Amino acid sequence: MKKILLIYATHSGSTFVAAQIMKEILSADFEVVMQNALESKPADIKNYDTVILGSPSWFSRGEEGMPSETMLKLMDVWGKQNLSNKHFAVYGCGDDSYMTFCGAVDHLENFVKNVKGEFILPSLRLNGFFFDVDKNVEQVKKWAADLKVKASAIW
Ligand SMILES: Cc1cc2nc3c(=O)[nH]c(=O)nc-3n(C[C@H](O)[C@H](O)[C@H](O)COP(=O)(O)O)c2cc1C
Repeated sequence: MKKILLIYATHSGSTFVAAQIMKEILSADFEVVMQNALESKPADIKNYDTVILGSPSWFSRGEEGMPSETMLKLMDVWGKQNLSNKHFAVYGCGDDSYMTFCGAVDHLENFVKNVKGEFILPSLRLNGFFFDVDKNVEQVKKWAADLKVKASAIW
């Protein structure tokens, strides 16, 4: 079975909950390995064709609208590689009351472009996850189902 690496960062749990839902949906067709960015080893990427990256937008390194520090650390290390043979999907949890809504997603997209990765589908930006759980869970399910179809078409 083909393997997908799903790496998330989280502070209050929403990006983690979204990752769990994605894992459940994708596991029908793929072996999904889910890791907190904290525990992820940069070398792990060698074993996967497809990587999902999810991060909240946060105040990190003195700026709003940034990925969490744990995700930034991973990006620092992976950013030095050419990952042109890898496929990526990006999602983020944010809140549109902040100036840079889901800014972390923009940073992750730039990261994927810099390492020359390929996007499988447009990124997902979730707004106020726990304030409207039903709507957000529906969005996650739809995105994961799309991802499942598109990732299956790669191989
Ligand atoms: C200190 C702090 C800074 C934040 N900065 C942003 C931001 O710049 N842009 C945004 O869209 N959301 C921002 N948020 C909202 C969080 O990204 C949002 O609550 C998200 O769901 C948290 O994800 P988590 O539950 O996985 O930690 C911020 C929240 C906090 C507490």
